[in-house]
Amino acid sequence: MSGAEKKVDDLAWIPKASAIAREAGARLREFQAQGVETEYKGEVDLVTVADRTAEKLVCERLAEAFPEHGVYGEEGTRVRLDGEYRWYVDPLDGTTNFAHGIPHFCVSLGLELRPTGLNPEEDGTLVAGVVYDPMRDELFAAERGKGAWLNGKPMRVSRTPELAESLVATGFPSRKRHLSPNVHFYQEFTLRSHGVRRAGSAALDLAYVASGRMEGFWEFKLNPWDTAAGTLLVEEAGGRVTDFSGGPFRLDSREVLASNGFIHEELLGLFSDMFAGRSLTPIPTPQEFAAHRAARSAG
Ligand code: IPD
Ligand code: CA
Ligand code: CA
Repeated sequence: MSGAEKKVDDLAWIPKASAIAREAGARLREFQAQGVETEYKGEVDLVTVADRTAEKLVCERLAEAFPEHGVYGEEGTRVRLDGEYRWYVDPLDGTTNFAHGIPHFCVSLGLELRPTGLNPEEDGTLVAGVVYDPMRDELFAAERGKGAWLNGKPMRVSRTPELAESLVATGFPSRKRHLSPNVHFYQEFTLRSHGVRRAGSAALDLAYVASGRMEGFWEFKLNPWDTAAGTLLVEEAGGRVTDFSGGPFRLDSREVLASNGFIHEELLGLFSDMFAGRSLTPIPTPQEFAAHRAARSAG
């Protein structure tokens, strides 16, 4: 075993959290192979028996491994929230992919240290994170101040210096979709980069920034279980995470902008310009395009 791999075993929370994420991921793989029924939580917000079963399994295992720790899970688990430590659990990030048989989803576990006396609305410090992709058997892990690893090997963000050479990612909310301005950002980032991926798992998007596969990720209105683990992965891999104005990222801020650090100021500049109504590159409207298309076929 190399020195770096050995170090992973020396970590405080990652070995147990990794085993839990792997076990839950294996259950998701089985469900995926069997096929599952889908229910609707909201208009297009899906949930399956796999989400609920995986959350129950993760919570039972966390209680065995870390009996003092609290848990805040997407499918409703709220236990020991006055504790010093709190796990944010997304038992299945990428449910829409999962429900359609697309093999791109993960288990995400992020651990927050909340010192005694902290106000309920204040963030503590994220200290550990694990994101496990069961279909590729990829385990991304980090602990605060100790580094970040992909399958036990140290991982770093990319060194790409500008957006024009970058691949970036985003996602769209499944609730109140008509209130989201994100398609404008999608368009502008598409025109200025190698492209924008909308792959359907925010936790894996963040893990891909951390591992250097992509340079940046942003999304509006995510929840703490989507971002707790992935944002720590990015920071520990050498990247930067803020809100859309460059302020500190907060778990409930509903804004996350993560990058390799090198392109961060450029991304913030673009957000600031776009929020001020500048920097929108004109593209043809469907009507203008149709007129052009009709003229072409007539000529
Ligand atoms: C969703 C995914 C998706 C993001 C959505 C999230 P879920 O989580 O992370 O990429 O765009 O905003 O809600 O519902 O699959 O756990
Ligand atoms: Ca999620
Ligand atoms: Ca989920």
